[in-house]
Amino acid sequence: MRLLVHAPLCRGREADGERGQAMHLQPAPNRFVVLVLLVITALVVAACGGGAAEEVSPTAGGVVTTATAAMPSGSPAASPTGSPAASPAASPAASPVGTPGGTPTGGTGGTEDLTGWATPSDTEDGTIALLLPETKTARYESADRPFFEAYFQELCPNCQIIYNNANQDAATQQQQAEAALTNGAQVLVLDPVDSAAAAAIAEQAQAQGVPVIAYDRAILNSEGVSYYISFDNVEVGRLQAQTLVDALEGVDDPQIVMINGSPTDNNAGEFKEGAHSVFDPLVDAGELTIAMEYDTPDWSPDQAQNEMQQALTALGNQVDGVYAANDGTASGAIAAMKAAGISPLPPVTGQDAELAGIQRILIGEQYMTVYKAIQPEAEIAAELAFALLTGQDVPESVTGGQTANNGATDVPAILLTPVAVTQDNIADTVVADEFWTVDEICTPEYADACAEAGLE
Ligand code: BGC
Repeated sequence: MRLLVHAPLCRGREADGERGQAMHLQPAPNRFVVLVLLVITALVVAACGGGAAEEVSPTAGGVVTTATAAMPSGSPAASPTGSPAASPAASPAASPVGTPGGTPTGGTGGTEDLTGWATPSDTEDGTIALLLPETKTARYESADRPFFEAYFQELCPNCQIIYNNANQDAATQQQQAEAALTNGAQVLVLDPVDSAAAAAIAEQAQAQGVPVIAYDRAILNSEGVSYYISFDNVEVGRLQAQTLVDALEGVDDPQIVMINGSPTDNNAGEFKEGAHSVFDPLVDAGELTIAMEYDTPDWSPDQAQNEMQQALTALGNQVDGVYAANDGTASGAIAAMKAAGISPLPPVTGQDAELAGIQRILIGEQYMTVYKAIQPEAEIAAELAFALLTGQDVPESVTGGQTANNGATDVPAILLTPVAVTQDNIADTVVADEFWTVDEICTPEYADACAEAGLE
């Protein structure tokens, strides 16, 4: 389902009048005051040159890990930004969805006020749980988990984090959540395998007085959700689709294949909706054909490869572009096309700015990805978890008064801004943000492509 988002400032597009569960952006009562503050903040931010990241070193110790997943090598290079000891004076006008205008430079614009507001404690010794959904997509073990743990440990060196990865199994995640509650977790940070089924986890936590933060994916139809931290996921789909359409300019009646994400992930529906909002008018105008469309169980790259293989067979290899919902499914689609001998490859979309995805973009195998700045996402979640654990107030500025309705209640929400990445702006986005270093991207195999793209 698409979440109904209530935003105090019109940071996104007005969606009134859209069908079904359209997103409604509604003005807050003090809109004028907030607008004035926003203008002042924008001027200050511009004058200060935007949010330069402050580097702090993570502290050691304190993590109880009951992980089932191995840690893949190669984690993003950035260190935690924003000292937890920083001044709590967050601007009331901070925009949780990034710099107004959304200039694609780094993707973390506007998030600098969203962390650093809680008072760290080295006397607290509570326990929280971080429950992530899967390991086939690289981000969870290589970015979300390390960023979250490092930042939380800085805030609370003596606290414990119970960590589990559900390996894409909703029943496993339910058991992991129950075990975390039994083992004394006082806050759950939950990225659900199944957005609807996870309501049962939130209900159980709520019955035990344990607050739940929906991390990256919404938890639907439950009142037991205290915060939702994610990206503007409909915008992710729009960026993917618009970049693909732009790449297809000049192709007569282009024929595309859509490889969407997992039907149990609420985000997948939002990506798909954003993509269709770009494609459908073109289809109606007879300017584009969506020849085949698949939902991909478990976001599985192997499954995506099968889907693409089927599509190629059905279409006699005639495919002008592929909408793949993330870098993992893109890798599957690309593998199928290479196996079918298609050369050159048509433009393929993706998401997550995985290292392998960025490298495929450099050598022209993948056309684009969507960079979502996972570090601020994880750190905001860590700070919210710490505040809920220690009973500290969350300043209004963190959500800016925005809520997302999950079918049962309006959940205070923070939706960060995604950024489209092609060969042209790798340097200005993932490299500028230190999500990946040039050294990590430009291994010998990619040295020539890097030189050509000016990545040195
Ligand atoms: C996340 C994506 C990720 C996908 C597969 C989505 O909910 O937002 O970043 O690629 O799940 O795990």
